[in-house]
Amino acid sequence: MMRTKISVLAFLVALVLATSLYTIEAQKVHVVGGSLGWIVPPGGPIAYSTWASLQTFSTGDILEFNFNTGEQDLARVTKEAFDACNATSPLSLQTTGPANYTLSSPGDYYFISTFDRHCFLGQKLAINVPQGSSSSAGPSSSPQPPPPAGTPSTSRTPLTYVVGDDLGWIVPPGGPIAYRTWAYDKTFFTGDILLFNFTTGQQDVARVTKEAFDACNSANPISLQTNGPASYTLSSPGEYYFISTLERHCFLGQKLVINVTQSSPSSSSPASPRPSPTPVTSRAPITYVVGDKLGWIVPPGGPIAYRTWAYDKIFAVGDTLVFNFENGTQDVVEVTKSAYGSCDTSNPIRIITTSPARITLTSAGEHFFTSTYSRHCFLGQKLNINVTDLGTGTGSPSIAEPPSDGSFSPVEGPDVAPAPFSSATRHPAALGFFVSLLAIAFASLSVF
Ligand SMILES: *[C@@H]1O[C@H](CO)[C@@H](O)[C@H](O)[C@H]1NC(C)=O
Ligand SMILES: *[C@@H]1O[C@H](CO)[C@@H](O)[C@H](O)[C@H]1NC(C)=O
Ligand SMILES: *[C@@H]1O[C@H](CO)[C@@H](O)[C@H](O)[C@H]1NC(C)=O
Ligand SMILES: *[C@@H]1O[C@H](CO)[C@@H](O)[C@H](O)[C@H]1NC(C)=O
Ligand SMILES: *[C@@H]1O[C@H](CO)[C@@H](O)[C@H](O)[C@H]1NC(C)=O
Ligand SMILES: *[C@@H]1O[C@H](CO)[C@@H](O)[C@H](O)[C@H]1NC(C)=O
Repeated sequence: MMRTKISVLAFLVALVLATSLYTIEAQKVHVVGGSLGWIVPPGGPIAYSTWASLQTFSTGDILEFNFNTGEQDLARVTKEAFDACNATSPLSLQTTGPANYTLSSPGDYYFISTFDRHCFLGQKLAINVPQGSSSSAGPSSSPQPPPPAGTPSTSRTPLTYVVGDDLGWIVPPGGPIAYRTWAYDKTFFTGDILLFNFTTGQQDVARVTKEAFDACNSANPISLQTNGPASYTLSSPGEYYFISTLERHCFLGQKLVINVTQSSPSSSSPASPRPSPTPVTSRAPITYVVGDKLGWIVPPGGPIAYRTWAYDKIFAVGDTLVFNFENGTQDVVEVTKSAYGSCDTSNPIRIITTSPARITLTSAGEHFFTSTYSRHCFLGQKLNINVTDLGTGTGSPSIAEPPSDGSFSPVEGPDVAPAPFSSATRHPAALGFFVSLLAIAFASLSVF
């Protein structure tokens, strides 16, 4: 009897050992930046910090930096060199792409490009490999982003998508990532319509083959529309490639690839709207860290950053906002609505200059926050929130966390394209494409 127990125990121990050995062997490969690759990111350093915040790094994992030899390089540097973008004496340098870097020990790793101004423009990545981490835990190896918000059902009424939303169909300021990001969280079904919003004479839109798309070859398009806005009905499933035929436009990023799914013919019922957050009548106060891991900075993607952050949150009297920043580089001011609109910080309601700045919301209504630092407000370091008075009656802590289940609920009506942050997309067009990226970032961050 005892003997059996011991052998069972031995077997279990062996099993555990074998399992842990196996898991230590397993290496995760993290493709840095995902499909963005290792480039000068259009939106500045937030690209890679966002990417990194979605990953779980473990000892033994591999970072795969995809870049073209001669266009980029990869240097591992010290923290000081990273902060200063000083590429004088890197710890290591890889000049041929793609380059793999094995995270052989726990600790902080700093990577930059040594090319002129690349690091300053945001081609830099800092990651942390926690002590005692093995390669077993965590999400899958490839940086699979979380499923987009509002997973569409396979049958719904056809939608019209305005390509690029407010950006329209132009040479996107940030390069091809713009339309890639735009398409990212959308599911296209047969019957849907793409609306390319452009000014006749300034742009055009051609549907081309994959080869022509990859080569930006506009010689023999499948179809060409020169009058804007132009609509294109996605009549059959498969991949669709669109470019502009105008000189260099495609090379500069005016290109869109989408994948169209066969719409299930059975039903034409619209996608069921996502249930709106349960109305909250009372709950315990919540402490919100503004911007989560982004902190309180001049967001590279513009004001959409904090608008997106605030989007799915309910603020109530008694809640606290925490603004994290580096002392001396930012501050927090609360201002009036009109001052907020004009970025006038000369008569703040209150000002806090040291981090972390904690502001408890003591009154209902709209509250406006920005920074007094020169141009910070104009560049998007601003937050407005609407504070609800939930009443102090019951005080039952019914909800401990804001209803951020990672899904930034799109406001979906029967014939409205699922435009997450539709309330937040009325912003300068050039910033539009960061919406999805930030959504992904914040959605995941809120999980931590
Ligand atoms: C860059 O780093 C090198 C070596 O670490 C150092 O000698 C140099 O002063 C640094 N340059 C700047 C501008 O900080
Ligand atoms: C980098 O790692 C990936 C995944 O293990 C592998 O497919 C690729 O060949 C490696 N590339 C180089 C340059 O070693
Ligand atoms: C197309 O762009 C114009 C000019 O930016 C804008 O006024 C219009 O609302 C856009 N149309 C759609 C359908 O988004
Ligand atoms: C499009 O969808 C098909 C089938 O789901 C898939 O095999 C293909 O890789 C997809 N293409 C792109 C560009 O995502
Ligand atoms: C900012 O300064 C205050 C007061 O000197 C200090 O308590 C706080 O720790 C500093 N915060 C940071 C983030 O350095
Ligand atoms: C703020 O919330 C109140 C109460 O819910 C509402 O009446 C008001 O319209 C909101 N203001 C904004 C700007 O959303």
